[in-house]
Amino acid sequence: MMAASRGLPRILLIFSLVLNSTIGADTGCDDWTLNGNDVCCKRCKPGNRLVESCGRDPEKLCIPCEPDTYITSHEFHCLRCTQCIGKQFTLKPCTISSDTVCGCKAGYRCGNDKCSFCVTECKEGEEPTKERSCRKCPEGKFNDKIHSMCKEWRKSCPDGQTLVKGNVTSDSINILLHNLMFLSTIFVTEPKQEPLPVLTDKKGK
Ligand SMILES: *[C@@H]1O[C@H](CO)[C@@H](O)[C@H](O)[C@H]1NC(C)=O
Repeated sequence: MMAASRGLPRILLIFSLVLNSTIGADTGCDDWTLNGNDVCCKRCKPGNRLVESCGRDPEKLCIPCEPDTYITSHEFHCLRCTQCIGKQFTLKPCTISSDTVCGCKAGYRCGNDKCSFCVTECKEGEEPTKERSCRKCPEGKFNDKIHSMCKEWRKSCPDGQTLVKGNVTSDSINILLHNLMFLSTIFVTEPKQEPLPVLTDKKGK
């Protein structure tokens, strides 16, 4: 009993929201000028297309797009909603005032700004090709990021350092010769416990 009486207003609310977004949606002209006894429409309400430029009733100059079509402020006709297909999925459904927004499934990337097609996402150590596939970084190049171009290994090395060749996912690295010697001190020989230097004032002066 309690549940039913609480549920009813909610159902009515949902029903009126659905009704509002379809039938009760804003229809007609949004901005018009007076022309004698008529009005002439300058801009339809969002999701509406112009049916007549001028008339008595601004509500009747524009009508909403039919289901599965949409119109933006840049168009004069309702356009068919894009369908997301293949490796695409629907990120945002079509509305009367905006086209569908597609995304690409895991492992794929949008191939252009509008995401009208998907391409394979390239892994680290690879780069995308013009043919919309991926190839391994060529010798001498690396890529530590997904779906980007391979870069050249560093070639030069400051004095006192040695260059360790990279691979497809890592750049070459510079290692200080000093560090190499330091490491060998730790791992090869026991470091000698040096006595702390004694600081003396104005020594040698
Ligand atoms: C490339 O080098 C890095 C760092 O030395 C190493 O962690 C990685 O496993 C190497 N990858 C390949 C594919 O050899």
